[in-house]
Amino acid sequence: MNMIETRDLTKKYGELFAIKSINLNLSRGDLFGFIGPNGSGKTTTMRILATLLNPTWGEAYVGGYSIYTRPKEIRRMIGYMPDFFGVYDDMKVIEYLEFFAAAYRIRGPKRRQVCDEVLDLVELGYKREALVTSLSRGMTQRLGLARVLLHDPQVLLLDEPASGLDPRARIEIRTLLKRLGTMGKTIMVSSHILPELADICNKVGIIERGELIVNAEVADVMRQVRRQTVLNIGVAANSDAAAKLLEGHEMVDRVEAGERFLTVTLVNGHEDYSDLASLLISAGHKLTLLREEELNLETAFMALTKGITS
Ligand SMILES: Nc1ncnc2c1ncn2[C@@H]1O[C@H](COP(=O)(O)OP(=O)(O)OP(=O)(O)O)[C@@H](O)[C@H]1O
Ligand SMILES: [Mg+2]
Repeated sequence: MNMIETRDLTKKYGELFAIKSINLNLSRGDLFGFIGPNGSGKTTTMRILATLLNPTWGEAYVGGYSIYTRPKEIRRMIGYMPDFFGVYDDMKVIEYLEFFAAAYRIRGPKRRQVCDEVLDLVELGYKREALVTSLSRGMTQRLGLARVLLHDPQVLLLDEPASGLDPRARIEIRTLLKRLGTMGKTIMVSSHILPELADICNKVGIIERGELIVNAEVADVMRQVRRQTVLNIGVAANSDAAAKLLEGHEMVDRVEAGERFLTVTLVNGHEDYSDLASLLISAGHKLTLLREEELNLETAFMALTKGITS
């Protein structure tokens, strides 16, 4: 079953399409990175899925429930973390969570237990008795995440949970998301930076000006873009001669000379490049570098969206 499904989901503000015909399908356990620049429609989409905003037209289902007819059921099964949320003054971390747990009707000794569990999950157990106002931004974000986990929701809608965090706190959030994904939750997480999510998500959607221009499985994107093996080869001296030598090899498609190394693209289908190393060495070259160029997801997506976005 699809945990999140939208069909032609559209929201207009006057003449402006905040989102336009968005079609999404997310299954249980999917970690979907929702990437787009400011004003592209991420928050609008998430607020509609969280049943806080009505679309102008189109369908949306969460856990099989329609946002139009079963919002109550949807709210029970989602954890929505908005892009901005307030915390209350003069409240301890544990009190803050217990307050929301009470709102979720979690009662008795179970309440305290659940609160402690989610605190541990977001690694804030040691801040249990601290005032919420004393937390750093990264900790506050983690507390926000703890709060939406209280009722053990199946679906998480997280609107830019990592924004404004330092690199270390960003990594912590990513680790946390990965862990939640392995717990079988379906997670939709937005960001305006692709690399931030690329390596933890299994699906990525790129939205621009309300339109979903890419909606793909990360593995597929990698396969589509990666057709040729690319090497970086450095030699101590005479790199022109080395380039010539490599160009003459049947396995080599092309060689580009850079400042520090040669970028060597192999002919489609060739992956074993040990021959090239011995070729250079036997010609008297001293190898200073030989590595396969990593295809990072950002490059892959750029290649894929080229022409669509410009
Ligand atoms: N209440 C509103 N009234 C009018 N226009 C709105 C309203 N809410 C959003 N919009 C417009 O809809 C578009 C999408 O906004 P949205 O907040 O969904 O973008 P976003 O991708 O979340 O951006 P950001 O990265 O800045 O959070 C924007 O052009 C925005 O100005
Ligand atoms: Mg937003």
